[in-house]
Amino acid sequence: MTSGNLLTDDPRLYEARFPDPERLAGRWAEDCLRRHGAGSRVLDLGCGTGRDAAHLHAAGRRVVGADLSEAMLAHARVHHPGPRYVRGDLRGFALGEGVFDAVVCLDSALLNCHGNDDLDGCLASCRRALAPGGVLVAEMRNGAYFLGREALLARPVVNRFAWQGTSYRSTTTLYVDRAAQLLRRTRVWSADDGRRPVEQHSAWRLLLPQELRYFLTVHGFSVLALHDGPGPRTEPPWREGDLPGTAADADRLHVVARLDA
Ligand SMILES: C[S@@+](CC[C@H](N)C(=O)[O-])C[C@H]1O[C@@H](n2cnc3c(N)ncnc32)[C@H](O)[C@@H]1O
Repeated sequence: MTSGNLLTDDPRLYEARFPDPERLAGRWAEDCLRRHGAGSRVLDLGCGTGRDAAHLHAAGRRVVGADLSEAMLAHARVHHPGPRYVRGDLRGFALGEGVFDAVVCLDSALLNCHGNDDLDGCLASCRRALAPGGVLVAEMRNGAYFLGREALLARPVVNRFAWQGTSYRSTTTLYVDRAAQLLRRTRVWSADDGRRPVEQHSAWRLLLPQELRYFLTVHGFSVLALHDGPGPRTEPPWREGDLPGTAADADRLHVVARLDA
């Protein structure tokens, strides 16, 4: 068994495992930006493979994508050209890329801020990077969803998928670290191409809606929307014309906030 992260180490596999052929995430983010009148300069924080950054670029925005993973950045530059892609740690960054009108942070990238210091560092950096009145759009798993839902954690979940002639199998075990407010995940990947199994350890901050609202307010943002859907990864998924809901109970949390002028 080796350790690593099969999906961020091989971004092609990441896109195969989490396909978004309709670019729902990018379209949803663009819809939020338009709805709230954001200007054209956008930072995609934790941009991953660059799919959403490239969608925003194609929609006419000037986009910078930032990620900690060199493999993701290299993939983005080749497969999703248009934006500039730079290395940055969302827990505290100064990219030297000028001022932005909006920051987007999709698919739980924000939850890589595990501690309060990380969240403070991220939001303080966003504040420095944004023009007054700039918009923050984020989408992530909802910490509140796990409260009282022990069944989600009861047993390992096995998933299988095939890509380019290889069958992959992942076994995922979740564990709530209550004191640290983290959802810890162990995922073991195996493939039928003879490679050794890979064990991956990761964690997400279990961020509660009211806590997120508080952090944003402390950092000078006004919350414009905070809801559990519809969004790009909800069931049913968001469609053009859908309005944000008002509940914040289900698996995904969506937030739009404006930096006070
Ligand atoms: C679940 S992926 C989401 C990627 C992309 N936003 C999307 O929606 O497809 C999370 C991304 O966050 C990146 N990441 C993790 N920790 C980070 C950090 N501290 N700073 C910047 N990026 C980070 C990972 O490399 C990965 O690309």
